[in-house]
Amino acid sequence: MFPENFLWGGAIAANQCEGAYLEDGKGLSIQDVMPKGIKGPRTERPTEDNLKLVGIDFYHRYKEDIKLLAEMGFQVFRISIAWSRIFPQGDEETPNEAGLQFYDDLLDECRKYGIEPLVTISHYETPLHLAETYDGWLDRRMIGFYERYIRTIFTRYREKVKYWLTFNEINSILNSPFMSGAINTPKEELEESQLYQAIHHELVASALATKIGHEINPDFQIGCMILSMPVYPLTPDPKDVICSMEEEHKHSMFTDVHVRGEYPGYMKRYLKEHGIKIDIAKEDRDILKNTVDFISFSYYVSVCATANACKNVRGEGNLLGGVMNPTLKSSEWGWQIDPIGLRYVLNQYWDKYQKPLFIAENGLGALDHLVPDSAGNPTVADDYRIAYLKEHLLQVAEAVKDGVEVMGYTTWGCIDLVSASTAELKKRYGFIYVDRNDDGSGTLERYKKKSFYWYRDVIASNGRSLRCCSGEAKHEIFSD
Ligand code: BG6
Repeated sequence: MFPENFLWGGAIAANQCEGAYLEDGKGLSIQDVMPKGIKGPRTERPTEDNLKLVGIDFYHRYKEDIKLLAEMGFQVFRISIAWSRIFPQGDEETPNEAGLQFYDDLLDECRKYGIEPLVTISHYETPLHLAETYDGWLDRRMIGFYERYIRTIFTRYREKVKYWLTFNEINSILNSPFMSGAINTPKEELEESQLYQAIHHELVASALATKIGHEINPDFQIGCMILSMPVYPLTPDPKDVICSMEEEHKHSMFTDVHVRGEYPGYMKRYLKEHGIKIDIAKEDRDILKNTVDFISFSYYVSVCATANACKNVRGEGNLLGGVMNPTLKSSEWGWQIDPIGLRYVLNQYWDKYQKPLFIAENGLGALDHLVPDSAGNPTVADDYRIAYLKEHLLQVAEAVKDGVEVMGYTTWGCIDLVSASTAELKKRYGFIYVDRNDDGSGTLERYKKKSFYWYRDVIASNGRSLRCCSGEAKHEIFSD
């Protein structure tokens, strides 16, 4: 039911697991001053309560971790490169050799096990200096700094990496301008025209990456990475249908530009009607024509939209949120669980663009509890995670039957790491448990969860084991 060349694996991001936040010449990144995630206050400089400064110590333990991923049969491993390891400030001329060497070694370790790396170039971890000095992507000079960074890593890892993603969840800048766009100006003071100017700079930079990447190695496969979230009309009222369409447009604009190489008509209308003027340099329209080879996306939740002001109450969910769907259950963090929505978005993307699709993130953040296994070793009986992943993967299989071209699937946080939105460790996604807690305690030991063995079987059977009864849906942790 899955194509023979389907890539199975998992995903992480540097800032959420590496730690070693100042080691080997690394500069500060915006994450180093975000101890409480997107909603919490920022600090002037790193503080001890910031769990990301140590993460899961992946920087020192990656060999042990990749060995475990290889044991599960991983064929692809999505990592990100911490920009501030390569250019500690972001605007210097010369890269930091120690940072480059670290990723050389990490990539070699993947290759040793035949694991294909999928590399995110910028995953919410812009050098802090670029935020503080330039206000992040508000400033056009960011395109030049990003260009220097991508030229450096594309050239260096030319033979080691084939699959690249330009910006993680590029559309999340709409909600998280600091984390996603390194924009230092407080969100409440940011004008919409500034936000769209920053978005334009990022879109140009992303297209430039595709252009330069293909020049450096024509075999590179370069994709965008979109936070996908279907927006259903809350009721059959046509006004709700249009409302959900307009809500979706805010996000599909990013995919449209990446795939079609120009702004869609509905976006031009939106900008015009909202009095937003963007500075578009002469060369930008040509640069945008460098369209992506594939579309990658994260998928966690769906939401609803309504034109009825009284019912328009936004709930939790991913970085964006939306009106809660009364038919769905939620995770312990209030993210609504909708496996069928994954089949829906896959079909939507395919029908619209006919570009290969990569599910770069999907998974369940849950509270896990260590228990002894039959041999007395610590493990987690995470049937809830197995059920979640199984139900989503069965919907991927349905989409494949629908004729959608799906390249692969990387579960989010295949090894426990620090959450992006809340900066917690207790919100765990992994197949591998990491002994580290929100108060910073723990040995950092790794333990295999029940899902570790389950996913190993899924990969080994190329998804055929999903059809059998192991890990039957158990939703007792999901609230109504
Ligand atoms: C995505 C991000 O939005 O969701 C990841 O790309 C993030 O960085 C993931 O970790 C899960 O979100 P959270 O807040 O549970 O960590």
